[in-house]
Amino acid sequence: MTLWLGGLKRANVVSASGILEYSYKDLQRATYNFTTLIGQGAFGPVYKAQMSTGETVAVKVLATDSKQGEEEFQTEVMLLGRLHHRNLVNLVGYCAEKGQHMLIYVYMSKGSLASHLYSEKNEPLSWDLRVQIALDVARGLEYLHDGAVPPVIHRDIKSSNILLDHSMRARVADFGLSREEMVNKHVSNLRGTFGYLDPEYISTRTFTKKSDVYSFGVLIFELIAGRNPQQGLMEYVELAAMNTEGKVGWDEIADSHFDGKFDVQELNDVAALAYKCINRVPRKRPSMRDIVQVLSRMLKLRHNKKHHRHSSATAAEVHIDVDQPSQQIPISEHRREESLDSTADPSEV
Ligand SMILES: Nc1ncnc2c1ncn2[C@@H]1O[C@H](COP(=O)(O)OP(=O)(O)OP(=O)(O)O)[C@@H](O)[C@H]1O
Ligand SMILES: [Mg+2]
Repeated sequence: MTLWLGGLKRANVVSASGILEYSYKDLQRATYNFTTLIGQGAFGPVYKAQMSTGETVAVKVLATDSKQGEEEFQTEVMLLGRLHHRNLVNLVGYCAEKGQHMLIYVYMSKGSLASHLYSEKNEPLSWDLRVQIALDVARGLEYLHDGAVPPVIHRDIKSSNILLDHSMRARVADFGLSREEMVNKHVSNLRGTFGYLDPEYISTRTFTKKSDVYSFGVLIFELIAGRNPQQGLMEYVELAAMNTEGKVGWDEIADSHFDGKFDVQELNDVAALAYKCINRVPRKRPSMRDIVQVLSRMLKLRHNKKHHRHSSATAAEVHIDVDQPSQQIPISEHRREESLDSTADPSEV
């Protein structure tokens, strides 16, 4: 009975933006009276909630006394209602009741990229997986920059805002600092996170798509080195760049967690791409579209190499592995279609 009523209520409260309005009481129940804390961000706590419909969601409670939080709430609800992509953490609903504002997101069971890079609790991420994560993030950003109408600039790309789903595919979270390009191009106070901020933005106070590209470049170096930008990542990178002339030799900054298990050529290529992203001159940085192309080509090549190795090995052994279906990877370089499940197309790299 409760289940049935719950379903009916939800169906009735779909807002004009396509986002569901959740009742405070339901969320209170689903979070065991707000005791299932997952984390604490700049704007308030995040809870895990088990809804009576069976779905698990993440509830972000915005601090009520924060004016910024209020603005962020409205921006996020408005923006996210129309943004859907397999590499974005989709907003599924909101709650505005009892003086509280909450955002309800799809639950990402493997947590943040930062927790995988820096917490001892998690197994180190392999190089192969890190490149896939970089491509996932690039696709999410490419959608925001070139797929969304009007375009959206994220403004706070960093490893704690990249979340991983059950199959370790990455999605971009937190559009709280997003602004549509047309609106508010100039804002008076600096926003974003220290260590990821485009120096050009700091001096001109103008945030562009290329500022996101800069933060993305920092994020790639973070993936390569397993080091936080707040702990001197970029000084480390600049030092390495002096020896590498921006091209080869980047393996000297490779995360020791790789234990030597990475493709040197691939790491050098990814680092060279990241180095272009952090160019001081914004117009010399690649676009997210260029980045998606480079990374997906790289992964296609890797897959072909593996496939080739696999087929020569199997030919030599005259052995057919029936559990390994041949993996052709028809990749469209620019995916636009929506998907709620990143595992929907397992052949995609
Ligand atoms: N949809 C989600 N699914 C699972 N965990 C989430 C989800 N959203 C947030 N979290 C977790 O909750 C924690 C807090 O997130 P939150 O976005 O509030 O803070 P933050 O990203 O650390 O910093 P900032 O406030 O600058 O974004 C993070 O550690 C994140 O891993
Ligand atoms: Mg966040």
